[in-house]
Amino acid sequence: MSHQDNLIAEDILAYLEAQRNKSYLRCLTCGSVDDGKSTLIGRLLFDSKMIYEDQLSALESDSKKSGTQGEKIDLALLVDGLAAEREQGITIDVAYRFFSTDKRKFIIADTPGHIQYTRNMATGASTADLAIILIDARKGVLDQTRRHSYIASLLGIRNIVVAINKMDLVEFSQHKFNEIEEAYRSFADKLNFKEIVCIPMSALDGDNVMNRSERCKWYKGMSLMQHLETVDISPEIAETSFRMPVQWVNRPNLDFRGYSGTIAAGMVKPGDEIIVIPSGKRSVVDKIVIRDGDLYQAEVNESVTITLRDEIDISRGDIICSTDDPAEQSDQFQAHIIWMEEEEMFPGRQYIMKVNNQTVPATVTDLKYKVNVNNFAHEAGKSLALNEVGVCNLSLGKPIPFDPYKKNRHTGAFILIDRQTNATIGAGMLEFSLRRAANVVWQDLEVGKMERASLKHQKPAVLWFTGLSGSGKSTIAALLEKKLFDIGRHTYVLDGDNVRHGLNNDLGFTDADRVENIRRVAETSRLMVEAGLMVLVSFISPFRSERQMARNLLDDGEFIEVFVNTPLEVAEKRDVKGLYKKAREGKIKNFTGIDSPYEQPENAEIIVNTVETTPEQAVEHILAYLDERGYLKSI
Ligand code: ADX
Repeated sequence: MSHQDNLIAEDILAYLEAQRNKSYLRCLTCGSVDDGKSTLIGRLLFDSKMIYEDQLSALESDSKKSGTQGEKIDLALLVDGLAAEREQGITIDVAYRFFSTDKRKFIIADTPGHIQYTRNMATGASTADLAIILIDARKGVLDQTRRHSYIASLLGIRNIVVAINKMDLVEFSQHKFNEIEEAYRSFADKLNFKEIVCIPMSALDGDNVMNRSERCKWYKGMSLMQHLETVDISPEIAETSFRMPVQWVNRPNLDFRGYSGTIAAGMVKPGDEIIVIPSGKRSVVDKIVIRDGDLYQAEVNESVTITLRDEIDISRGDIICSTDDPAEQSDQFQAHIIWMEEEEMFPGRQYIMKVNNQTVPATVTDLKYKVNVNNFAHEAGKSLALNEVGVCNLSLGKPIPFDPYKKNRHTGAFILIDRQTNATIGAGMLEFSLRRAANVVWQDLEVGKMERASLKHQKPAVLWFTGLSGSGKSTIAALLEKKLFDIGRHTYVLDGDNVRHGLNNDLGFTDADRVENIRRVAETSRLMVEAGLMVLVSFISPFRSERQMARNLLDDGEFIEVFVNTPLEVAEKRDVKGLYKKAREGKIKNFTGIDSPYEQPENAEIIVNTVETTPEQAVEHILAYLDERGYLKSI
């Protein structure tokens, strides 16, 4: 029995009290499939006696069946819990292990080492105090060692343990160890860690894991566990100012109004003065309430409800702060983004940002550079692919309260969500507010959209024609414009081929360029609607996301999507400009429908079938739609 079991048996209250007062160390393990990461975690759990008897006997029999260690117990089996992983021999998701010793409680996030590493690391690392980076002593520092270290530093982890593992396979060579330590420190110098500790180890045999090993007497430092038990993880000064992002306003009846959330930094007591960002309203903490009663103080990571002496307006997403050092607010940022999705990130595309308990629309306005995570070089790029890291400018739909990530890892972190699928597609760290841009405010003019439109007696709108090249968009748009002109409407046609000669002559046909092409056209069409015009936009606009973005720029009813539904075979057969032929011959790259996708509209207001109808009939159909809905009435 371990010391803990004794205590549990003899004095359960003393045990619980001892547990409560121990500090938590959150650590992240990084290494590749066969560096021995799972074995190391298994060893920590095993030697700290956190494996219960029944698990142990299951482990012994499993080891005999599928282990990779012969007759020895395969500790990796303990950690690689999922059946699929056992079969493939790799770890596939973030798993959290809890255990404790006399001195501390531990949470270890085990993240896989294969290529999906960033997503999993970012998930596991956001609250980690320390990262254990595994290196196979036979292989030394690899690209992935640099990658893991870079991401750990990006995520704000300040303490690093370099576990130089499998020392038994290099005869515990001091020379080998020194060589690896030197190589590691020479690149990690740039990464701004507070402390780097290198430990020679054999996770499989337990050398220097719990206790110092007899097999490498030359090593005078601590064992891994001794280090984990004593490493200093007290928050840095910058992280101590009180912050509580409000998760919800708790108002069970008219007599009680509290603000609930998890404290992101610092501590709070009744009587403390607070300020709410972004409103800037001030008050004083009245009570700190939890389920079992009131607290005389609460600190970081605790979930509480706070009541205030004054009735002030506070909403979900606001941050309650100490008055001496409150959070900032902005809607324009420079940020690091880690991209986690197969589909690339394109500047100009709209995403949803989840930050401090609220969601806001967010657009990456500029990808300033990508970071090569193997050598930390800055590289130019037009998009971010899966697992890539970039420094971007972001523009949000409204100002948010925040802290720079360097100051606070909770209030400075965000995730990006796909508008259509709701999946998490990126994680990021706010660096600073771009105050220059924050000073550019929309000028409200005396004469508005309605005034300009009524001068023309018309209802402004955008008719957005989308469809394959050669589908007939431009022909229909031109005919429609003529009809609208004949009945006295003031129109304008924005046509892909024309706009690409001027405003967009710097853009080609990569996905990134098409996103930017449509962003500019959408913005232009919005300005034209502001000017009171009926705008006919005729662009392939192959991506749903950008068409949705164009729709979002306008008021309800102002955006009419017209899907010119011509099948590829038909458009290709017509081949008015001879481009399909060239694309098939490989003379034009990224041609829509051939080697570049077209995403059909799902909810277009109007669908035109050009196989069964003539352009004239299509125009009649559109005019009928406009007439029925009052777009052709004079106002
Ligand atoms: S979009 O995809 O970015 O919306 P846009 O409508 O501006 O495309 O331009 C499409 C026109 O450019 C086509 O009608 C065709 O004349 C021409 N073009 C030249 N190369 C390509 C290509 N690779 N893919 C599609 N259209 C192309």
